[in-house]
Amino acid sequence: MENKVKQVGTSTISVNGGDPAEFAVLSGTMGQPAIDVRNLSKQTGHFTFDPGYTSTCSTESQITFIDGGKGQLLYRGYPIEQLAEKSTFLEVAYLLVNGELPNKKQFDSFTATITNHTMLHDKVESFFNGFRRDSHPMAMLTGTVGALSGFYHDDQHTTEDEARNVAIHRIIAKIPTLAARCYKYRVGQPHMYPDNSLSYAGNFLRMCFAVPAEPYHVNPVIESAMDKIFILHADHEQNASTSTVRLAGSSGANPYACIAAGIACLWGPSHGGANEAALNMLREIGSVDRIPEYIARAKDKSDPFRLMGFGHRVYKATDPRANVMRKTTHEVLGELGITNPVLEVAMELEKIATNEDYFVQRGLYPNVDFYSGIVLSALGFPTDMFTVLFALARTTGWISQWNEMLEDPSQRIGRPRQLYTGPTERDYVSLDNR
Ligand code: CMC
Repeated sequence: MENKVKQVGTSTISVNGGDPAEFAVLSGTMGQPAIDVRNLSKQTGHFTFDPGYTSTCSTESQITFIDGGKGQLLYRGYPIEQLAEKSTFLEVAYLLVNGELPNKKQFDSFTATITNHTMLHDKVESFFNGFRRDSHPMAMLTGTVGALSGFYHDDQHTTEDEARNVAIHRIIAKIPTLAARCYKYRVGQPHMYPDNSLSYAGNFLRMCFAVPAEPYHVNPVIESAMDKIFILHADHEQNASTSTVRLAGSSGANPYACIAAGIACLWGPSHGGANEAALNMLREIGSVDRIPEYIARAKDKSDPFRLMGFGHRVYKATDPRANVMRKTTHEVLGELGITNPVLEVAMELEKIATNEDYFVQRGLYPNVDFYSGIVLSALGFPTDMFTVLFALARTTGWISQWNEMLEDPSQRIGRPRQLYTGPTERDYVSLDNR
């Protein structure tokens, strides 16, 4: 990756009455400019303090752009709404990894490569057999993706383009097979091998819902919805899990181990676990007449309850993914003929909350996870599989970001600083004197 940030000015800062120090102001092609503080410590003897990184750019990136105020999400410049409407997940995967949409020849070749890597090494099965039947599928996914590092150690040679490409193709191809395996293991059904005649989404649905005893027909409406869900979750710039992948990768670690680290981070309810939490909340609310009670709890600062599926660190107007997901939810429920009381609660909650001052003033709108739980449940996935599906889709973003980082000449090992507030130096006291 060629560095493209440009200096657009300077900023002079005098820290704590010290001599003024000059810093470059950097700009990308879109978005807020940034003050280059790389030499701040050398020039002023101070660090910056930014827990949660709300004011810190950790990297230059050319993959995904978000304008939270406008509710805009672009993959390599293309609006998410257009990609979700007109593209396919594998085309988007090519775009994220390579920077441009593929032509027909490139697309066919990429599709063939991904398709040819869908099978797992037979020994991966032993890792699944080590898990309890009731293990959370995210535990299985974290463990088995990490285990791939033991099978493909040559992909470790991250400075070589060819090794990196093989790792990229392998992980994009194998993640649906692993995700489906987690599901099958949990429900106690035989593992379905991939069917390479199907699409990426169609093959995944078959690996989850087919059984060897019966033929399986991929429903095109469901296949298209699954593909859209994958596109919507494919990347989201420098969020917690992506930053985890980059940080792990900055030491030159094995790519599968880095992706496993991202999966572990995604698991939390403030991140990828939110759709599971949102659906559980909607089920708990249960009926429209109980919504005011939950709205009051969400506004009550002495109650830790939050409206799950509402709010976002970056989107403060609307989450563009939520609009696509809302439409997809209605398409899927229509196709399957489901009238869902949970959806009724969701629609009413959305109406009430988006008109309440508390939520409007804080820029809290439904995020993608508000709807994705409803649609995934309608497709037949149990709630504990939701984050696995998110991880499946996000793997493409993670590996693209990992690749970009390794190609970036300005990349260094990630190493944040701290403000230490523990005890000052003191002498050891032997046990009998304490
Ligand atoms: N319900 C009620 N109040 C909320 C909520 C909510 N869901 N989210 C934020 N607030 C309030 C919060 O109490 C605070 O109020 P005040 O200013 O009076 O103290 C204000 O809004 C700002 O909150 P914050 O915690 O500083 O915001 P943040 O940017 O750090 O948090 C968030 C973002 C997503 C963690 C948070 O909105 C949240 O917990 N939402 C629910 C969980 C959720 O849906 N997460 C999925 C995010 S989308 C998936 C992804 O991209 O990974």
